[in-house]
This record gives sequence, C-alpha cells and structure tokens, in this order.
Amino acid sequence: MKTVTVNASVRYDVLIEKGCLSRCGEMTAEIFDPKKSTAAIITDDTVAGLYLDTVVDSFQKAGFSVCCFVFPNGEDSKSHDVLLQVYDFLIENHVTRTDFIVALGGGVVGDLAGFAAATYLRGIRFMQIPTTFLAAIDSSVGGKTAVNIPAGKNLIGAFHQPSLVVCDPCTFSTLKPETFADGCAEMIKYAMIWSEDFLRLLETCDINEQIEEIVAYCVDIKRQIVEQDERDCGIRMILNYGHTLGHAIEKITNHTVTHGHGVAIGMVLITKLAILMGRCEQPLLNRLCAVLKRYHLPTAYDGKVSDLIDSCLHDKKRAGSIIRLIFVSNVGKTDIVPMDTDDFTKLLSEDTPC
Ligand code: NAD
Ligand code: GLY
Repeated sequence: MKTVTVNASVRYDVLIEKGCLSRCGEMTAEIFDPKKSTAAIITDDTVAGLYLDTVVDSFQKAGFSVCCFVFPNGEDSKSHDVLLQVYDFLIENHVTRTDFIVALGGGVVGDLAGFAAATYLRGIRFMQIPTTFLAAIDSSVGGKTAVNIPAGKNLIGAFHQPSLVVCDPCTFSTLKPETFADGCAEMIKYAMIWSEDFLRLLETCDINEQIEEIVAYCVDIKRQIVEQDERDCGIRMILNYGHTLGHAIEKITNHTVTHGHGVAIGMVLITKLAILMGRCEQPLLNRLCAVLKRYHLPTAYDGKVSDLIDSCLHDKKRAGSIIRLIFVSNVGKTDIVPMDTDDFTKLLSEDTPC
C-alpha cells in the first residue's frame, strides 16, 4: 500500500492499493467509529452498477450503518438541483454531524458530495473513494468542492478537506478509454508544472505497469502545493495550468468536451500564447503536443475565438478586470501572470492561435 499524508488544515491519508476496494470499510474504521457513525454513500448510476455493492458490503462488514444516494452520471449532475436532492436524502436518513459522507466515484461525485459535506449542517466530515484516474490524482485531494451554475463551472464552492482518501487503481480498468485519457491530461499537467524527470517518464513508459506509483507521485505533487497554499491564493494557482481556457471550452461545448480534454487543449493554447509573448520556445509546445497525443488527447480547438473570449471572461479566477494566467516557461518552471482582460482579449483575437 502506498500512503501519502496531506498536512492541510485537516491531516489525512491518501491510501493507494490495487484491490483495496473490498477492504475500504475496515480502512475507514481506522478513523471513523463504526458504532457512532453512519456512512452516507453518494455515487452516480454508472459507478453504483459497478462498485456500490462491494463498498456497501465492506462498510457493513466493518460495522457501519449505511445509506446510499445514487444520481445520474455526468457533469450536468454537478448542479444545484442534484445538490438539493442530496440534502433531502441526508435529512431523510437523519444524517448528523457525527456521521460522514462517502464520495464514491469520479470528480463529479467528489465535487458534489464534498460540497454537500461542506455545507450540510454547516459542515460534516467526508471521505473520497475515487474511481476515475482524474479523481484519484487530482480532484479527491486538496479539498476543492463545488457545483456548477449556468454562468460557469465551479462558481459555487467551498474548501473542505476530506478525512480520508481510499484509492483502488483496479477501478480504472472499467473506465472508457476517453475517461482514462481525461486523467492523463491532469497527469501531464503535473509533469509540465513540476518535473522534467516525470515528463520524461511519461514520454516513454507504460503507465499501466506502474499505476500505483504514478497515482502516488501525482498526489504527492498536489500535497506539496496544497500544504503551502490550501486556499488557492498563491502557488496553488499553478494547478490551473490550461484550466482557464479548458473550462471555457467545456462551457462552450456544454461539456461534450470533458474536463481533461478541455485542459489538454487549454494547455496547448496557453503555451501558444506564451510563445507569442516570448515567454517560452516552440520546442516546449512540440513536446507538450507529442505527449498529449501519446495519451490520446486533443491538441487543437476548432470553435470560434470570440466564444472562447466570452467564456474566459466569466472564469472565477478573474479578479475585477484582471485575469490570472499560468504559463510554463520550461518544464517545472511556472509563472502566474496577471493580465488585463482587454489585453487578454486582444492577444487571443489578434493572434487567433487556435
Ligand atoms: P466524472 O466524475 O463525470 O466521471 C466520468 C464518467 O466516468 C462518468 O460517467 C462516471 O459515471 C464514469 N465512471 C467513474 N468511475 C468509473 C469507473 N471506475 N468505471 C467506469 N465508469 C466510471 O468525471 P471525472 O473526469 O472523474 O471528473 C471531472 C470533474 O472533476 C469535473 O467536474 C471537474 O471540474 C472536477 N475536478 C475537480 C477538481 C478538484 O480539485 N476538486 C480537480 C479536477 C477536476
Ligand atoms: N485542480 C486544481 C486544484 O486543486 O487547485
């Protein structure tokens, strides 16, 4: 078993082991008392069909009372409507502050269930059991929780750290290839912002052969960043490399372009802008595109630049007329650059780098 301990405002372990899903109940009993707490499991219908029985069985065997809420899979469910249904479910099942929520699924389940945990009864504890590669290496760690509203992604949210993360990489075997690729985009993001050695590994290795190590390595990068800046006021912003443009593409396409695919295109576009501004060189872009293609990810945006600009200007990272852009000048070397939205608009439209 690989363990990464995150020392944020809450100290918690991320436990990573192939095949551990059937033991998640006993692993949880190390930190929550089965005699005093109910596990309120929240998941989506796809994950429920695959893994809910195993998880319920494991929690019950460990002595927990369990209740379950299942919602339709997909980004559209990360909404206020489904959130209100989650609150109703928690109330109907008499879930109190001594109980805890279990987010079983991908980033949509984790963000929604985490936000419910952050806000229900002014906050109850929760744990994450990520079942997508993206959730395992990124969204289940660090405490960002949110729902979407029509004006944009993640506009309503809270920082709320989990008490435990249990990751069984065997669950990735049932992912659609494109959903696994979504996680690969975040993995490549970590390499670009943090480590030449890691990027070199990704350029050559078969990640399936060392998936536990890869998950632990990515989580450990996130740990180092979150421990320095839990609330996203400084260095944590580098985790948003490619995200402003990526979120914009997700929104324009009504999420038919998924998060990881949007981030992949976003990293390419921001790197093109960086070249135009003299902040990095063409070989870095070539390398980024090659590694994205290796993991079956897109490298081009085929929509309208005007839509991209409109959508970016609604990004929550915007502060007044300033938008914060994350540039990578060399692998592992990042700059957080505040830019006036007028200049950003001009740069995107004049140079149409798509
Ligand atoms: P997702 O949760 O929608 O999962 C993708 C699809 O895979 C869904 O249909 C789901 O039902 C299915 N699925 C999940 N696990 C499965 C499995 N093991 N086998 C088969 N199918 C499975 O998407 P995602 O890519 O995991 O997460 C994307 C979301 O995460 C976005 O909303 C994004 O904004 C958010 N996110 C949050 C953070 C954060 O720090 N909180 C970071 C990155 C992304
Ligand atoms: N995924 C971005 C963050 O956690 O800050």
